Amino acid sequence: MSTVFVGLMSGTSLDGIDGVLVDFSPAAPAPLRVLAHEQVEFAPELRSELLALNRSGDDEIHRVALAGNRLARSYAGVVAALLAKAGLAPEQVAAVGCHGQTVRHRPGEFDATGYTVQVNAPALLAELCGIDVVADFRSRDVAAGGQGAPLVPAFHRALFSRPGQATAVLNLGGIANLSVIGADGATLGFDCGPANALLDLWCAASTGQRFDPGGAWAGTGQVDARLLDALLAEAYFALPPPKSTGRDRFNAEWLERRLDAAAARSRLRDQDVQATLAELTARTCADAFRRHAPQARELIVCGGGAFNADLMSRLGGHLAPKPVIASDKRGLPPDQVEACAFAWLARAFLQREPGNIGTVTGASGPRVLGALYPGGAAGGT
Ligand SMILES: Nc1ncnc2c1ncn2[C@@H]1O[C@H](COP(=O)(O)OP(=O)(O)OP(=O)(O)O)[C@@H](O)[C@H]1O
Ligand SMILES: [Mg+2]
Repeated sequence: MSTVFVGLMSGTSLDGIDGVLVDFSPAAPAPLRVLAHEQVEFAPELRSELLALNRSGDDEIHRVALAGNRLARSYAGVVAALLAKAGLAPEQVAAVGCHGQTVRHRPGEFDATGYTVQVNAPALLAELCGIDVVADFRSRDVAAGGQGAPLVPAFHRALFSRPGQATAVLNLGGIANLSVIGADGATLGFDCGPANALLDLWCAASTGQRFDPGGAWAGTGQVDARLLDALLAEAYFALPPPKSTGRDRFNAEWLERRLDAAAARSRLRDQDVQATLAELTARTCADAFRRHAPQARELIVCGGGAFNADLMSRLGGHLAPKPVIASDKRGLPPDQVEACAFAWLARAFLQREPGNIGTVTGASGPRVLGALYPGGAAGGT
């Protein structure tokens, strides 16, 4: 079997698709080599439809199906671009690991099993790219009583941990999640709370820009203690792990209620709210690190938030003298880590190895994650 995989990630920030073509064959200590990386922004209509599907609305089943088809066509474009960049043919790739787009995340609720829903059309993707597709990584963990998230800690452990050394990795995506690997390899991981989802939301509503490059605009604002307290009062932050969250909780209504509670709208400038949201992310992530990773000597940061200098310097301020470093200093650029994780999870699936860690998600044990959509036509050619 080929050791080359594609990983496709489109996360809660709803910024677009990160794709990587990865070879898992290099000799130790490097667990992988990235052959190509591709980033594609969502078309505005697809983005707004995916955002709308995060909440109840008319004719959702029809709309989810069509959004899935549209996503699959975008994913297929990313796969084609990756292959072209690396000069590889589809037959040289073992599988595509495709996360899909989370629109609801309610594990453990309602009937006590709950659900997590990723919009996707993996059969169409397999048809379009002619490569085996592994998708639907989260639902088996939820079926086993887990949160279905985060799934990246096992990969963070494989990639960043060193024997005899505690390691902490923070992914700053739409939601922030922390992985903590003890010196003995014991692993913990959970969602800390909102990151770019709220930063992007407020930035777009106030400035019309989809996100705040470098956090420069947030850097011109002042943190407001009263608003920060209102935001920190959210019960999620004090919950013990295992825990995970998403736009189901941290959304525009969540923010609006707290802006009202702190009488922030008339009192504060827009950039002060942005600075306070950045401080919320920095503070909740720093608290999580101090509480759960006291042995770690540094905090490794991945995800798009690692490019936000304002957010990184707030985090650094909270954790000094421990360094807060972007993941490229430890071997993989911040915007490639999550996509590589889904290539890695696809490989785990093909090898029938578990992708989850029960101590992270709360699942009753290790499970093989995913479902296979074979790429070739029946009967072969
Ligand atoms: N140069 C930058 N300056 C500030 N923020 C940035 C920059 N580049 C990316 N970002 C932020 O990172 C976000 C994208 O991050 P990322 O793709 O890791 O999140 P995601 O798609 O939610 O992923 P996941 O759910 O897997 O963690 C953007 O929406 C933006 O907020
Ligand atoms: Mg993204």
